[in-house]
Amino acid sequence: MAKSIESFIAGLPKTELHLHIEGSLEPEQMMMFARRNGVNLPYASVEEIKAAYSFKDLQEFLDIYYQGMSVLQTRQDFYDLTVAYLKRVHADNVRHVEIFFDPQGHTERGVPFEDVIEGILDGLAFGEAEWGISSHLILSFLRHLSEDAAFETLAQAEPYLDRILGVGLDSSELGHPPSKFARVFAAARDKGLKLFAHAGEEGPPEYVWEALDLLNIDRMDHGNRSMEDPDLIKRLATDQMALTVCPLSNLKLCVVDDMQNHPLKRMMDAGLKVTVNSDDPSYFGGYMNDNYGAVTEALSLSKDDLAVIARNGIEASFVNEDRRAELLDELDAYLAMA
Ligand code: ADE
Ligand code: ZN
Repeated sequence: MAKSIESFIAGLPKTELHLHIEGSLEPEQMMMFARRNGVNLPYASVEEIKAAYSFKDLQEFLDIYYQGMSVLQTRQDFYDLTVAYLKRVHADNVRHVEIFFDPQGHTERGVPFEDVIEGILDGLAFGEAEWGISSHLILSFLRHLSEDAAFETLAQAEPYLDRILGVGLDSSELGHPPSKFARVFAAARDKGLKLFAHAGEEGPPEYVWEALDLLNIDRMDHGNRSMEDPDLIKRLATDQMALTVCPLSNLKLCVVDDMQNHPLKRMMDAGLKVTVNSDDPSYFGGYMNDNYGAVTEALSLSKDDLAVIARNGIEASFVNEDRRAELLDELDAYLAMA
């Protein structure tokens, strides 16, 4: 890739709207937390951990991801993890983040919900004070668990509702359609929360329709397989439904066989509002600039394309209007001199 576009990406003010904080756990940190908490890992070294990161599908990744997060046990761990992530994306000039956490992956191991959420919230506050990165937190339900379990998790979140942006839906998609969670999403909406769902990552277009029509989501995570259904493409374009696309994730999880076949550019050409994000950067081999760089190179994106993607990220975020104006000004000032 030409140097100039690489440095254009590096300097571009960016938002990250699809990031699982547990997926930012780097192998070195995993070893450190395991030592600190006396957890036995099935790996003897950082190299062995990295060697395990080869996935044929989403489930193979999730098995390793849930095992990895077992080293996270204390409020301090969640704080340290969050601060480390923000420090890393500050280096990529990320200016605003909306991150997921998977409380059920921790509470089912006996870690108190309060320790998880308070550690993360404190970390986000530190990131704003230290690096000026604004943020929101999204509580994600694990879709391989029951809707009753999701309701229990929503009840645990009750004291924190003013400090979370909304709820999401992640984990094993196939066999766990959005319709399974229609009631708990309606309850979350009644509490004033925004709604997000992974859909069309591995699941068929029908799951995307359900996320739109049964869950009434505010933003869609992935959405790749929407491209198989022309009526769905029209619907997403008409609604200007934002999609949080994750290129390196898609490659690592074999959602695409080659980055050159990634649908991002076709999505843009079809009028869809796409954003670029990292999903689980420590497992998928790259943070924000790496994701921007990978699709730019494979799909020959122009600086104008990249500017559209960065602007979509600001528009698709749930910052207040003052912050949105600030971020748009920052982007416009950058584009004027780039
Ligand atoms: N949890 C963490 N990353 C995920 C992904 N890409 N899809 C579904 N669930 C996830
Ligand atoms: Zn995800």
